[in-house]
Amino acid sequence: MAKPKVFVARQIFQEALDMIAAEAEVEVWPDELPPPRDVLLQKVADVDGLLSLLTDKVDGGLMDAAPKLRVISQIAVGYENIDMKEATRRGIPVGYTPGVLTRTTADMAFALLMAAARRLVEGAEAVKAGKWKTWHPLHFLGPDIHGATLGILGMGRIGLEMAKRAQGFEMPILYNDVIRRPKEEEEQYHMRFESLDTVLKESDFISVHVNLTPDTYHLISDQELDLMKPTVVLVNAARGPVIDPKALYRALKNKSIGAAALDVTEPEPIAIDDPLLTLDNCIIVPHIASASVATRLRMSTMAAENLIAGLRGEKMVNCVNPEVYQR
Ligand code: GLV
Repeated sequence: MAKPKVFVARQIFQEALDMIAAEAEVEVWPDELPPPRDVLLQKVADVDGLLSLLTDKVDGGLMDAAPKLRVISQIAVGYENIDMKEATRRGIPVGYTPGVLTRTTADMAFALLMAAARRLVEGAEAVKAGKWKTWHPLHFLGPDIHGATLGILGMGRIGLEMAKRAQGFEMPILYNDVIRRPKEEEEQYHMRFESLDTVLKESDFISVHVNLTPDTYHLISDQELDLMKPTVVLVNAARGPVIDPKALYRALKNKSIGAAALDVTEPEPIAIDDPLLTLDNCIIVPHIASASVATRLRMSTMAAENLIAGLRGEKMVNCVNPEVYQR
């Protein structure tokens, strides 16, 4: 019997490609940049499976162009690039990679928090530029991290891991989410549930961990930034559009907030002439919060497992739309 065909939209770990190749005829997109739309549509024309990334638009048009498509496997925990209604309507299971990147992403959010507070990037750049002339009592001052109040917006898997990391720094935590955590957990991690406004007003550090939905689009804009302390450090390792970038620029430029550290931006990649890139009090890294070797390897093999299960017609373990199996 002929093997099913699969298009893998970017180079992933070889271990995962080997797993897929044992089951399917695989074509891997070799370029660093995503396949252009017309090329992607052409590549999926006769495939049974697609391994996609956040940067590939997987909509009804793509599904129309891929009449044999019976599984989509996304190598990410997020899947806002996929039209889930269309996939479900067509009975196509969509895989994703939850859980495996939770702690790695929280590690990065905490690293960003520390880097922005203690001005690591500015300091390192000053040294490289030959500007380290002396030890000076007033150079490169920033807020203390230990004992400061951490505000967490979105207390899901990653938000909770952020709270755990903050325990080592004796940081009391204020948080807001649509659902509240159990009381025992709040006590264990010194977390207090508060209104959004209170979290914004009373926190020394604010870390964003909400999903991107119509409700969280520009959740942080002028009004919210105005409520924050002038020294606050704002961290975003969730999704760029949760923070209004123009409002953030104004707040950072006017020093109405202290600093920001972003793993994600709106849009991605951020334009090279974006004014945020001109600010010393803003650190931006290129959406790499899950980029540890172990985590990206596990994401690759998990995406391969999901893809293979779909090709075999088996239930995939990590499926966004398990309702397709009810039919
Ligand atoms: C990364 O942002 C992901 O959703 O996995």
